Amino acid sequence: MDIKSFQDDLIGWFVNEQRELPWRKDQDPYKVWVSEIMLQQTRVDTVIPYFNRFLEKFPTIEALASADEEKVLKAWEGLGYYSRVRNLQSAVREVHQNYGGVVPDSPEGISSLKGVGPYTAGAILSIAYGKPEPAVDGNVMRVLSRILLIWDDIARPASRKIFEAAVREVISHENPSYFNQALMELGALICTPTSPSCLLCPVRDHCEAFHEGVQTELPVKTKKKKQKNVLLAAGIFKDSQGKILIRKRPETGLLANLWEFPTVELNLEFQRQREQLGEHFEELYGSFPKINDSLGEIEHVFSHLKWNIHVFSGSFQDDIPQTPHLKLVTEDEIQEFAFPVPYQKMLKQYIEFKKAD
Ligand code: ADE
Repeated sequence: MDIKSFQDDLIGWFVNEQRELPWRKDQDPYKVWVSEIMLQQTRVDTVIPYFNRFLEKFPTIEALASADEEKVLKAWEGLGYYSRVRNLQSAVREVHQNYGGVVPDSPEGISSLKGVGPYTAGAILSIAYGKPEPAVDGNVMRVLSRILLIWDDIARPASRKIFEAAVREVISHENPSYFNQALMELGALICTPTSPSCLLCPVRDHCEAFHEGVQTELPVKTKKKKQKNVLLAAGIFKDSQGKILIRKRPETGLLANLWEFPTVELNLEFQRQREQLGEHFEELYGSFPKINDSLGEIEHVFSHLKWNIHVFSGSFQDDIPQTPHLKLVTEDEIQEFAFPVPYQKMLKQYIEFKKAD
């Protein structure tokens, strides 16, 4: 391959065709960092409004370092993979305390930060600091597997290093930022997973897969295991004053520190969902609640689990003492707490049901 000509065609295309995205307005390393963390596992269209709101609330390293975790989780509500934002805040606090508030510009410094893996490190170093470092994610692997005819299985963690080595061979030292962003942009706009638009591709002449007519056979990617099914019952329970009982999830594990309605994992006695939820409630809070007929089911797919929640509403009479992890809130107050998407859906279902009633 003529590397110089490849770089020129790729970067020239990016200069003219790049999308206007809020994190491309300047090269502030903090903004690049926030955008790259949000863009992991989340689509650009979804990220844009979250990014804008997040930066309004936490415009600088200092602002995010000193923010209340509860508010930060609320700003991330609905984006999923919440450990991303908890790690981001810990890392930002470290930058604030140990690096004078300046995001480190060396591979070692930046990679030592919590939640900053090789992809994020490379993206920040190249986009914010103009360093010729690879930033290889799944999209970049797809693009490069085609251009350079790389047949390694991209589902294997070990393959990333092969692609990083390939980037080091071809990356532009004049404009590493545009080079890496152009690979990402090409993956998003042209070199898409199932039907790449080769006829519009600015680097088609350099693409070995196109030359051989094998672009749709690449990348090689073995299938992941299917998600495990988890059956749950959850309830929106009100006290005698109409306040809703909410509780905070444990500080580690899935959806850590987010809020939820009382929920129990069902054992396989399907017909006893309501009773199992009542027993769970009684065991934890000391009184057996009244539970109405089911409001329906909610499905939510995580990377490795699929939740099927049977939704109930109900009420209880006894006083339940509040703690930092267990609260009674009104329907207005509930808006201040960060809930995972399936519980947001559950609340919406409940409010609609009540309106119709
Ligand atoms: N995906 C990951 N990083 C991106 C970026 N900086 N711009 C667009 N899409 C991306």
